Amino acid sequence: MIVKPRVVEAMNAQIQSEFSASQQYIAIAVYFDAESLPDLAAFFYRQAEEERMHAMKFVHFLLDTGAKPLIPVTPELKNEFGGAAEAVEFALNQELKVTDQINNLVKIAREDNDYASLNFLQWFVDEQVEEVDTMTTLLATIKHAGGMLLLVEDFVRRNLANPHGEADAEAE
Ligand code: FEO
Repeated sequence: MIVKPRVVEAMNAQIQSEFSASQQYIAIAVYFDAESLPDLAAFFYRQAEEERMHAMKFVHFLLDTGAKPLIPVTPELKNEFGGAAEAVEFALNQELKVTDQINNLVKIAREDNDYASLNFLQWFVDEQVEEVDTMTTLLATIKHAGGMLLLVEDFVRRNLANPHGEADAEAE
């Protein structure tokens, strides 16, 4: 098998994390939707789709390399938030945790001389830099806005509506 057993195991754990992240972002989007903040809601619905895409990248990589992906149940998620800052801070912490997990996957792949996985994982290393940066910026914006969430809505609409740019959207 191309992918080493320890890497397969860690990638299957990652599939669960990515699907959980996707569902968690839906829960955050629903919170903002219920608060009548449609741009923040739309941002998190889009993030949910991205996380689902991340999970599916691992699923297809394992299938393509002859390994067996396991489709998991997602653990209990957080559905109650005390405010916008709390919700986005929760999202940021989730991204930081996923970053640690991706780094750990890279470490295992390197230890086991699994070069196909190392190559595949590089995309996720770059993606996490971008996602942590986006969530950090959003949290800072909420704090700067000091409770005036319509300013945050405007910021999201103008800056985070198409985080990958037009070119990427066309390429997909
Ligand atoms: Fe797929 Fe943002 O972690």
